[in-house]
Amino acid sequence: MKLNEYTTLGRTGLRVSPLCLGTMTFGTEWGFGAAEDVSKQQFDRFLEAGGNFIDTADGYTNGHAEELVGKFVSEGKLRDRVVIATKYTFSGQPGNPNAGGNGRKNLYRALEGSLRRLKTDYVDLYYLHAWDTFTPIEEVLSTMDDLIGEGKIRYFGMSDTPAWYFSRMQTIAEKEGKQRIATLQLEYSLAERNIEREHIPAAQELGIGLCPWSPLAGGFLSGKYKREGNTGRGDGRLSGPGSIFNKFTEHNWRVLDALLDVAKKLGKPPAQVALNWLATQPGVTSVILGARTMAQLEDNVTSLDFAIPAELRERLDAVGAPEVVHPYSFYAPWMQARVSGNVTVSPWRPANIYVGATAPPAAPEKKAAAEK
Ligand SMILES: NC(=O)c1ccc[n+]([C@@H]2O[C@H](COP(=O)([O-])OP(=O)(O)OC[C@H]3O[C@@H](n4cnc5c(N)ncnc54)[C@H](OP(=O)(O)O)[C@@H]3O)[C@@H](O)[C@H]2O)c1
Repeated sequence: MKLNEYTTLGRTGLRVSPLCLGTMTFGTEWGFGAAEDVSKQQFDRFLEAGGNFIDTADGYTNGHAEELVGKFVSEGKLRDRVVIATKYTFSGQPGNPNAGGNGRKNLYRALEGSLRRLKTDYVDLYYLHAWDTFTPIEEVLSTMDDLIGEGKIRYFGMSDTPAWYFSRMQTIAEKEGKQRIATLQLEYSLAERNIEREHIPAAQELGIGLCPWSPLAGGFLSGKYKREGNTGRGDGRLSGPGSIFNKFTEHNWRVLDALLDVAKKLGKPPAQVALNWLATQPGVTSVILGARTMAQLEDNVTSLDFAIPAELRERLDAVGAPEVVHPYSFYAPWMQARVSGNVTVSPWRPANIYVGATAPPAAPEKKAAAEK
């Protein structure tokens, strides 16, 4: 796979690069990003390497990220060349309940602001950024459908929603002949794999793409944080005020140990191995990169230039796999053998929903005997 080997965004005609340039780090307002000159260098290098997909949001660095994207695209006369994704949901005016959330009034307000900052009259991909827990699905769907009709957006996507939410929306869209969801945006990395249970199988079934965010778990998977004597301090983002998610867990240190070992065997930086693994996972369309410096971007942009051999990939697949909880234990191979009467069945498309151990758990008495 190469950066200029384009793929389609889910079941659409839009061609996107397998890596997408994230811009949450365009601007220093949030305390962990890059200044304008470095953001511009990152933007230019990404396009020069073959990337065409840019991800931003109305609130990133308080609107500065969108302004920088708008500036770089308009000054470079690149509007036809780049695919711009942006998002709405988070409040733009404290104290005003209708300047946030998923409702129609806020959706139009936020989009008009994004179009102004991006210096364009349409966005290619418009995301609901996060579910507000109550706006009806039909209201969001019909507004997105209208916006495509009005020419203000070309496609729409869902970010940070439960699987049942986007599945129901897609099903209603199909039944009512409305525009369909093109893609999802969710946290997904070697360290955070919970969406393998529901979101990925649902997206595959419904023809929806997937653009993972925080592919390096906020920088944790670069290997620059050390378990021994970790104080949570240092020059990385996870040490600063931007660290809203705790990445220093026992589970993540275990994943990192395996990643460091695999990276050593491959002679590649851990960040590249983590990004390569993710970009080649089932269901993934385009991985959204984050970088603060040019050296980091260079590392990340060249992460598709090699293949991870099967035995090393198996190691990575196994180490952070989601825990097998109910009802997923019913989809384990040994349970399905009971369903099929021990006959092997090859479905037209494997459901890919079971992501756990391939051997059944030992019965208690056998386990006790084995431990003696
Ligand atoms: N939809 C959503 O809710 C949502 C949420 C978050 C992000 N996003 C999108 O996803 C994009 C990527 O997310 P992210 O920034 O969290 O991604 P990430 O790749 O998990 O983390 C990026 C951070 O890791 C560090 N880093 C990156 N490459 C490195 C390397 N090669 N070596 C060492 N450190 C490295 C840098 O931080 P330090 O140098 O400061 O350590 C960088 O800012 C964002 O820009 C945004 O577009 C979406």
